[in-house]
Amino acid sequence: MDVAKAVDAAPKGSVEALVALAAPDMVGVDGLIGDRLDSPVPVIPALAQHLIAAGGKRLRPLLTVAAARMAGAKDDACLKLAAAVEFIHTATLLHDDVVDGSQLRRGKVAAHLIWGGASSVLVGDFLFARAFELMVETGSMRALAILAKASSVIAEGEVLQLTRAHDLNLDQHTYLEIIAAKTAELFAASAEAGAVSAGCAEEQVSALRAYGLNLGLAFQLVDDALDYSGAAETLGKNAGDDFREGKATLPLLLAIARSGPREAAFWERAIGRLDQTEADFRRARELILGTGALQATLDLAGDYAEAAKASLRLFPDSEWRASLESLADFAVTRPA
Ligand code: IPE
Ligand code: IPE
Ligand code: MG
Ligand code: MG
Repeated sequence: MDVAKAVDAAPKGSVEALVALAAPDMVGVDGLIGDRLDSPVPVIPALAQHLIAAGGKRLRPLLTVAAARMAGAKDDACLKLAAAVEFIHTATLLHDDVVDGSQLRRGKVAAHLIWGGASSVLVGDFLFARAFELMVETGSMRALAILAKASSVIAEGEVLQLTRAHDLNLDQHTYLEIIAAKTAELFAASAEAGAVSAGCAEEQVSALRAYGLNLGLAFQLVDDALDYSGAAETLGKNAGDDFREGKATLPLLLAIARSGPREAAFWERAIGRLDQTEADFRRARELILGTGALQATLDLAGDYAEAAKASLRLFPDSEWRASLESLADFAVTRPA
């Protein structure tokens, strides 16, 4: 692979340039992922491969590798951490689709609909455990501590979200607390672990963590917006899942606040009591668009993306830095 040529061909400081820069490392990461999901128990590689071979954006391992290389990493310690990060993410997806009752993931039938919920949860546990084996192999107690902490914070975020589902009065602060925990924490930890593996200065470790956290918040806000405005063909998962579950995400909360007493009975029935008809999702989508709730959610995501970019100012200008900046823009403009 001619990295220099691929980087030259991509617009400077673009997501394509980031992908090209990281390509040799990501080949190594994918190799580790393929090797480490092997098991003599056939359902484990079968189920895990179903999800992993479907692709996914590989954003979190990309963050680990990019953070490490931007910070000057010369060795390949970041590859095992990156593979571990993707295993943690994949485990949470397996668990999440059971919890959310989702039918489509990465454009394919969700694993629990093929192998059942019990197998999906247990293979998720296997992937979590494999992630920890990989981290231990790096010998970095600090990276292990960062990703172990992230794993417990994700679970806390998921449980907190569960206890606040159908809550029409959820405040924006608690919503942000939930998405920070369930999503942004792993983005933060991915970048932070990469920085730690490069042995960079504390100030830089904190800056990369802040970058990941803000990027993750922007990413989940946009994901919550896309659940109302996206299409299954581009998302690889069904739009409307959040609505059907009665999940109190920001586009919904803002639309409820902005549509006022006239729509109160509708929201109470459809979300509060989860008593929905076929036409309700369309009505909710119209209100979310019509009240400007969708745009306000995207605007907030834009603010977090700017904050993410600002965290990188500490680093000297480089291809890595410019392309990580563009990743923050991509998080907000992505169609899926
Ligand atoms: C899905 O994450 C879960 C969320 C945090 C919204 P991604 O959109 O990064 O999933 P893949 O890995 O690309 O499928
Ligand atoms: C994303 O959860 C976070 C985790 C998987 C831990 P969501 O339920 O919001 O994400 P999607 O929409 O299923 O990808
Ligand atoms: Mg889900
Ligand atoms: Mg979920």
